[in-house]
Amino acid sequence: MSDQATATTTAPVGKPVPAVAKPDLIPGLEGVPIAESSVSHVDGQAGVLEYRGIHVEQLAEHSTFEETSYLLLTGKLPTKTELEEFKGQLATHRRLKYRIIELLKCLPETGHPMDALQAGIAAIGMFYPQRQYNTPEERRLACVRLIAKMPTLVAAFERLRKGDEQIVPRDDLTHAANFFYMMTGEDPDPQKARILDVALILHADHTMNASTFAGRVVGSTLADPYCVVSSALGALSGPLHGGANEDTIQLFNRIGSAKNARAVVEEMVTRKEKIPGCGHRIYKTVDPRAKILKVYAEQLTRKSGNCHFEIALEVEKVVHEHYADKGIWPNVDFFSGIVYAELGIAPVCFTPIFAMARVSGWLSHWLEQLVNNRIFRPTQRYVGGHDQPYIPITQR
Ligand SMILES: CC(C)(COP(=O)(O)OP(=O)(O)OC[C@H]1O[C@@H](n2cnc3c(N)ncnc32)[C@H](O)[C@@H]1OP(=O)(O)O)[C@@H](O)C(=O)NCCC(=O)NCCS
Repeated sequence: MSDQATATTTAPVGKPVPAVAKPDLIPGLEGVPIAESSVSHVDGQAGVLEYRGIHVEQLAEHSTFEETSYLLLTGKLPTKTELEEFKGQLATHRRLKYRIIELLKCLPETGHPMDALQAGIAAIGMFYPQRQYNTPEERRLACVRLIAKMPTLVAAFERLRKGDEQIVPRDDLTHAANFFYMMTGEDPDPQKARILDVALILHADHTMNASTFAGRVVGSTLADPYCVVSSALGALSGPLHGGANEDTIQLFNRIGSAKNARAVVEEMVTRKEKIPGCGHRIYKTVDPRAKILKVYAEQLTRKSGNCHFEIALEVEKVVHEHYADKGIWPNVDFFSGIVYAELGIAPVCFTPIFAMARVSGWLSHWLEQLVNNRIFRPTQRYVGGHDQPYIPITQR
């Protein structure tokens, strides 16, 4: 055998690995920074959330979802002309290819809308088969398409699964107002549209949460932005993350009236069940988004006479009595469901609405990830065996 052949069949000796201190295993990566980011900032002790340095309360009061998305994506507030242009681009890209509608029609009506959304986004990516996004313009256009089409997908699946026809988006309405129009076919109530707009602003980004991290991991492999968003959607759907808003309203429905709340929650505490919509890895005080949504939840339920808000106050009280010392407070999902229910939205659509907002954050992180990209490849602590014999199947 020639030297060359020997060289190709013998395993090369590994390069010596420089000795580095082995870090401890940190479950859930709590407190471990995985990237430098300037997209958003949370101070969990003070209850502060900023997007690109601007307090979320300011944005909720003065901004729109479109403007906030521009801010997250580009790092700066747009000029009037830039904002008009961005809004126009979002409106232009709202429509879905008819084959995507056909695909949604093939999905089971019993399927969860988050799964339909994930499937829909992955499928939309197949219409734009570009594998590499090398120029800022290519990336910008992909961001616009993804943000613009998400509400159309959510509304289309919700109507189709109930046996109604999809409603084609209008381009003369805002992002939030058009969503209502596509859900109902009616001219949206401006006050309701503004409340949804604020909810979208409040959900648009939240530092290195599970879905954003999932998106950044996929982005770090240079996968396309449709894959980035569909993987982030999968992560968001879980009950420990975005799925908590649906679970919260289901809990309130199960409780039924404020007088039952204490008994139900006490029982959950005894059984060591987690109370949905409460607790947070970062916030050890009230989530600032929950404070804003609580005001809307109260206003809307006072008008409608619905008891969800009264139930929520009781649940909050009992949670506080049992868990204040653990820093467990209502999070964004505690009141958002009440607001959405008052806006006439079905509980299964709560998490998709969260996703319609968070897509702007995910994509801002994707753009940031690509600037100094290095593929994520963490390590593990191996706890399995070594040098085990292979036992033939007949002897097992
Ligand atoms: C958000 C969440 C996943 C954070 O998880 P985390 O940082 O890993 O915290 P842990 O799940 O380890 O909880 C720490 C302690 O607080 C308790 N805890 C956390 N959230 C709780 C909740 N909602 N209800 C009751 N107890 C809770 C845990 O049981 C644990 O108690 P222990 O130390 O006695 O074992 C967690 O608070 C939770 O599951 N909340 C409910 C789901 C939810 O609302 N998610 C949306 C978040 S925006």
